[in-house]
Amino acid sequence: MGIPESDTLMTHSQEIIDLYSRHVIGNYTRYPVCLVRGEGSYVWDAEGNRYLDFFPGWGCGLLGHCPPQVVEAVREQVGTLIHVPNTWYTEPQGRLAEALAQRTGWGGQCFFCNSGTEANEAVIKMARLWGGPERYKIITMYNSFHGRTMGALSATGQPKYHQGVEPMLAGFVHVPFGDLDAVARHIDSETAAIMLEPIQGEGGINLPPAGYLEGLRQLADKHRLMLIFDEVQTGMGRTGHWYAHQDWAIVPDAVTLAKALAGGVACGGLIARPEFAAKLRPGTHAATFGGNPLACAAALATIETIEQQGLLERARQLEQQFRQRFEAMRARSPLIKEIRIKGVMIGVELTTDGAPVVASCLEKKLLVNCTHGTVLRLLPSLLLSDAELNEGCDIIEEALTR
Ligand SMILES: Cc1ncc(COP(=O)(O)O)c(C=O)c1O
Repeated sequence: MGIPESDTLMTHSQEIIDLYSRHVIGNYTRYPVCLVRGEGSYVWDAEGNRYLDFFPGWGCGLLGHCPPQVVEAVREQVGTLIHVPNTWYTEPQGRLAEALAQRTGWGGQCFFCNSGTEANEAVIKMARLWGGPERYKIITMYNSFHGRTMGALSATGQPKYHQGVEPMLAGFVHVPFGDLDAVARHIDSETAAIMLEPIQGEGGINLPPAGYLEGLRQLADKHRLMLIFDEVQTGMGRTGHWYAHQDWAIVPDAVTLAKALAGGVACGGLIARPEFAAKLRPGTHAATFGGNPLACAAALATIETIEQQGLLERARQLEQQFRQRFEAMRARSPLIKEIRIKGVMIGVELTTDGAPVVASCLEKKLLVNCTHGTVLRLLPSLLLSDAELNEGCDIIEEALTR
C-alpha cells in the first residue's frame, strides 16, 4: 500500500491515532487530537477545531506557527539547495554564524546541529577536550534539563529521567540551582566546567537568585573553568534579549541553542569563545545535517523577523501584560502560589495539581503545559496579540475557578 494522494488523506483524528497505535512507538503521552495546520498563535485539528496555542512547538514556536518570513525563506531555499555535507562551504551557514556571534556582544564561533540535546553533547565534548584528560568533570544543577541523549541526560539533574538507563556517563556532579556555595564546595582538580540554564525551563521556570550567575562567572574565573549556558529554551529573544544571560551582563564561555533558533525548523547551535571553539578540530565532532542551508535560511529569517518587528521589546511588553493578568488572578484565586516570568517564559506555580487545569484549558481550546506537576508553563509566541493574550488568560482564569 502506498502513501495516499493528498485528496484521499485521512481527515479524522481517530484514524490517525489508530495508525499511531499500530506503527508509532509509544514513548510519548499524547492528547487525542491530530493537528493539521497552524497560523500565528492558532492551530487547527483534523475536525476543524481551532486552538489558541500558548505553548507553540514546546518552545520552538517563538514566532508562532508558520511565520511568513520563515515560510518564504524555506520555500526559496528548498528549491535552491536543501542539504550538502560539511565538507563544503555554504553561504547560509556562514551568515547565520555571523548573525549569532554578532548578537552575543562577545563574538564567538559557532557549530551547528539539529537539536538541543545535540548542541549540549557538542559542548560537553568541547569542555572535556579543553579540560584535557585530568579535568573532565562538569558541575550541573538539580532540576535542570539538558536533553535525552546519554551525555546531555547525564548532565540533567533529575534522577527520574535516569531511571532504567543507568549507568550514566561519569563526571557529572549535580548541585542545587541557586546555591553558589554548593558549586564552590564541589569544585576540585578534576573539574572542567559549570553548565546550567540561566533560567531553568523544564524544572519549573526557576529564575536565578540575585548575584548567582555573576558569582558563577567569578568561580569559573578563579578556578579556570568553562562556564556554559544552555539557552536552548531561553535563547533567541524569548526573555527580551537575544540570549537570556544578557540580562545579567555576564560573558559565558559557551552558549547552546535550539528550539526557537529557526522558527520551528529543526536546528541546534553552539556559540563558543575562540579559546574553547578551537578545541573542536576536524575529527573531534560532527553532525551530518548540522548547519544545512534549509535550517540556516530559516534561522536567518527568524532573526530578521525579530529584529524588523522589534520583538525583543515586545517580549518585555508581553511580560508586563502577563504579569498583570496573573497577579490579578492570584488576588482572586488561592490556587496560584507564585508567578515567575521573564519575557515570554512564564511559570505559574499552583497550590494544586496542574493536570486538570491543562485539561480544562484544552476543553476550551487553549493549549498550555504543566511541568513538575504544579507549574503551569506558557511559552507563547512573541507575535501574540493583546487580544489573544487576554483570550487565553480568560480561559486560564475560568479553568482555575472551576
Ligand atoms: C534547556 C533545554 N536544553 C536542552 C533541551 C533538549 O532539546 P531537544 O529536545 O531539542 O533535544 C531542552 C528541551 O526541552 C531544554 O529545555
